[in-house]
Amino acid sequence: MLSRAFAGLLALSALPIASASAIPHGQAILNTDEITSSPLLQESEATDANTLIRPTWFESALLARRMLALSPSGVVSTIFPDPIPPSSRTPASVAGLPIGLREYIADCDTSLPEDLSHGDNGDPTILALRVATTFKNIGAGSNLSLELDWWDHVDKAIPVYPGLPWSPAALPRITLFGYLDPLPQLSNQKAAALEKCFLRSHPDAKVWLPGAPGSPHASFWARLIVTQVYWIGGFGDVQQIGWMNVTEWKGIGRWESAAGVGDGRGWEDVRLPGEKSEDSI
Ligand SMILES: *[C@@H]1O[C@H](CO)[C@@H](O)[C@H](O)[C@H]1NC(C)=O
Ligand SMILES: *[C@@H]1O[C@H](CO)[C@@H](O)[C@H](O)[C@H]1NC(C)=O
Repeated sequence: MLSRAFAGLLALSALPIASASAIPHGQAILNTDEITSSPLLQESEATDANTLIRPTWFESALLARRMLALSPSGVVSTIFPDPIPPSSRTPASVAGLPIGLREYIADCDTSLPEDLSHGDNGDPTILALRVATTFKNIGAGSNLSLELDWWDHVDKAIPVYPGLPWSPAALPRITLFGYLDPLPQLSNQKAAALEKCFLRSHPDAKVWLPGAPGSPHASFWARLIVTQVYWIGGFGDVQQIGWMNVTEWKGIGRWESAAGVGDGRGWEDVRLPGEKSEDSI
């Protein structure tokens, strides 16, 4: 497995610098000729410049699935109902407007009971609170999108261009579009693996798990059924930006991908910029 992981790293970051000239310069902040010929370019920076090789879309999907697996939360956008029900304390003027709120999520599909699992297809598991605006809007008919980003790793990541300071804009973010699928009530026995998976990244959520005694809020398990995936890998000259192939998103697993998807690698074969060892799961 180590050697496969290494091969993944190589594919993403260690191609010879000469191939960098194949990258279109259209959106570059510095063009690669300037970078490679800079007298200030030290050996360590030459390594940084290797990241100027743009990953393929399949490699971007591996990074995206890894980001989902490592992300404990994300911003869920929903739309307020239009009109706002008269009994609501929500201002009538926000009817039909989107609201983004951060929610706890986890990539726990493989911990769902067998008859519910979607086969590790990148549908995130969500712990939904009935009182929360996000889930009230969904209850009133809104679909949702979930945004994840890697921006809190900016101080660990290597600058993309030598001479440019740390740049959150160079780090990936992704928006998953779809609709909420509330899961049926699970017996304690069936919920055990899911709870274990979810509480690994959210130990505090133990207090408001569905059915938790004395819980301050009624909650339920749900998942986002992903229908479209929008990816911004970073700066457009060195990363992919656009709509991801959803078959690839769904077909990538931790250790391998489904038959016919990409080159067979899984998200454990790649690393995100500036990953700390504690990020590994
Ligand atoms: C929500 O998503 C479902 C499934 O993709 C779609 O059929 C429905 O029209 C969407 N509803 C709204 C309000 O966009
Ligand atoms: C999406 O990926 C699948 C699997 O690799 C491939 O068969 C399909 O042709 C791709 N779709 C598009 C629109 O590229």
